[in-house]
Amino acid sequence: MRKILFVDDEPNLPQELSRILGAICNDWDIKYSNNGPDALDLLESENVDVIVSEMRMSAMDGKELLTQVREKYPEMVRIVLSAFSDHKAIMRTVRLAHQYISKPCDAEILKTMIERAFVLKTLLKNQKLRRLISRMEAFPGLPATYARITELLHDPETPIQSVGKVIAEDIGMTVKILQLVNSAYYGIARRVAGPEEAVVFLGLDTIRALVLTIGLFSGFEESGIPKAMVEDIYRHSLKTGTLAKAIATKENMHKDQVEEAFMAGLLHDLGKLVMVHNMPDHYGQLLQATLDKNLPIQDTEMEIFGATHEQIGAYLIGLWGLPDSIVEAVAFHHFPCQCPTAVFDALGAVHVADAMAHVNPQSGGDTHGHRLSMEYLERFGLTDHLDGWIDLALESHE
Ligand SMILES: [Fe+2]
Ligand SMILES: [Fe+2]
Repeated sequence: MRKILFVDDEPNLPQELSRILGAICNDWDIKYSNNGPDALDLLESENVDVIVSEMRMSAMDGKELLTQVREKYPEMVRIVLSAFSDHKAIMRTVRLAHQYISKPCDAEILKTMIERAFVLKTLLKNQKLRRLISRMEAFPGLPATYARITELLHDPETPIQSVGKVIAEDIGMTVKILQLVNSAYYGIARRVAGPEEAVVFLGLDTIRALVLTIGLFSGFEESGIPKAMVEDIYRHSLKTGTLAKAIATKENMHKDQVEEAFMAGLLHDLGKLVMVHNMPDHYGQLLQATLDKNLPIQDTEMEIFGATHEQIGAYLIGLWGLPDSIVEAVAFHHFPCQCPTAVFDALGAVHVADAMAHVNPQSGGDTHGHRLSMEYLERFGLTDHLDGWIDLALESHE
């Protein structure tokens, strides 16, 4: 049975939640604590999957509670439930929580959020990796990009569009900004797909606070991580995102899908960055070996880590609440035929763009053994579109 723990010192919460959730979630075992210390006591004896905590509590605030939960039970999904006006509280927990929801909470949204956490578990079966990912707060970016964004934000005259453009080139900043803006805390009906739109939505003050005060982003330490390898992943990701966007546009996809194709392309190999940042030596050797031998990278990843970079990346962005279409595109970008969705959307554009972006124009070889799935294209009757897409790839290469 799925076990969910709610922590809030509001006396009416237990009745209120059991009333709204009890009717729709028969298979959940819902527990309540009205303060942090009691919640920690309960966690010693109960195997809880998801914790949903208020931020402002008298005995121990949500930040302290979630910090301890992250240390002791890294795999537990951490959701912040807070009053919408309490913007500062959200900023304080931006490193700690996987998702946010505002009060009064919408039962359906909360239910979807929690159920999604269980679906994601089936996507990444390796528990050790799930723990590692659940502890991640943010991604360090390229040092030069970080320096650029800091400089822009220090200048009071900087237009918000310039900030959005720099963020849209950075995988780490993009995924974190999208986590925030897509959260139910902001209560927006339509999901914001692109980072430039997200920056406008959050406003420059929030972005300044995140970058300059909270120090959420940083440039990675060059000593521990092979710089050329990270730069390679960044270059390839941006290339894939740009090409996926061009393909989506050429296929007359809806404007939101075009933006999703860009996002999914930018984030599709995020799992590689998770591994590079957490196990630089180990994963670096693996990448080098697959390049030297021209082996499919997933086979080696599966053999060594028991999971592929698609699964790792999709798990992280799913946990952080990004839209399903992007999670799907990341999860199936190498093997789109395995995806249950039966339309050619962001996933299709990313699959094609990725295959083309991996091709080495000098040798004509495929540098990561990534193959275009003709079966997938045939499914949608799109094989005759290939020439047009190749032209787009050549244009973007130039
Ligand atoms: Fe990939
Ligand atoms: Fe790729």
